[in-house]
Amino acid sequence: MENHMADKDPQEITIPSGSRYSGQMLELFLPSDQIQTKVKEIAALLSERYQNQCPILIGVLNGSFMFMADLVRYLTIDFEVDFIKIASYGHETSSSGTVRLLKDISADITGRDVVIVEDIVDTGLTVKFLRSRMAEATPTSVTFVTLLLKAEVANLDFPIDYVGFNIPNRFVVGYGLDVDQKFRGLRSLYAFKEI
Ligand code: IMP
Repeated sequence: MENHMADKDPQEITIPSGSRYSGQMLELFLPSDQIQTKVKEIAALLSERYQNQCPILIGVLNGSFMFMADLVRYLTIDFEVDFIKIASYGHETSSSGTVRLLKDISADITGRDVVIVEDIVDTGLTVKFLRSRMAEATPTSVTFVTLLLKAEVANLDFPIDYVGFNIPNRFVVGYGLDVDQKFRGLRSLYAFKEI
């Protein structure tokens, strides 16, 4: 597979052979500068909200690692970081309808301000699961941040506190998000080209 990092933000990418999606086209969906501007905005809001506090940011693996890495570099407050790993998809581009905990948090979140850092909310199953998992450990507060929200699809009975972008129901890759575990290193977000 080619190294797409070398070819910075091309308009289109053809998925190479060796993938079940080979030959399909990805088109630029959200360029990296727009993503960075939004991540800075969210970091500023969190820094204001948690001024003189030390929240624990919990990234949802794998997809959120890049968003988390950028977000924390823009924060101006004290914070801690932990990760949780959830599987909701298998290898498909649509939700399997089930959620499994693959790796739990290591930190004790009792009495802590928790900030869940998600890359994307699709059906909402994952965040619902996380919300009940967090409640078991009696944190002081739980705040949800997501870079992307598929608002037409998400079936939520609580609001997501900070949403970077509301996006249509398209499968997106890059900036930490994968298709078949690939393309996570792209700086921009891409969507499958509709034909
Ligand atoms: P949900 O549980 O249906 O809300 O799905 C959340 C998880 O599904 C995300 O954390 C992603 O791992 C994955 N996912 C949902 N939509 C996309 C997409 O468009 N691209 C890549 N991964 C996605």
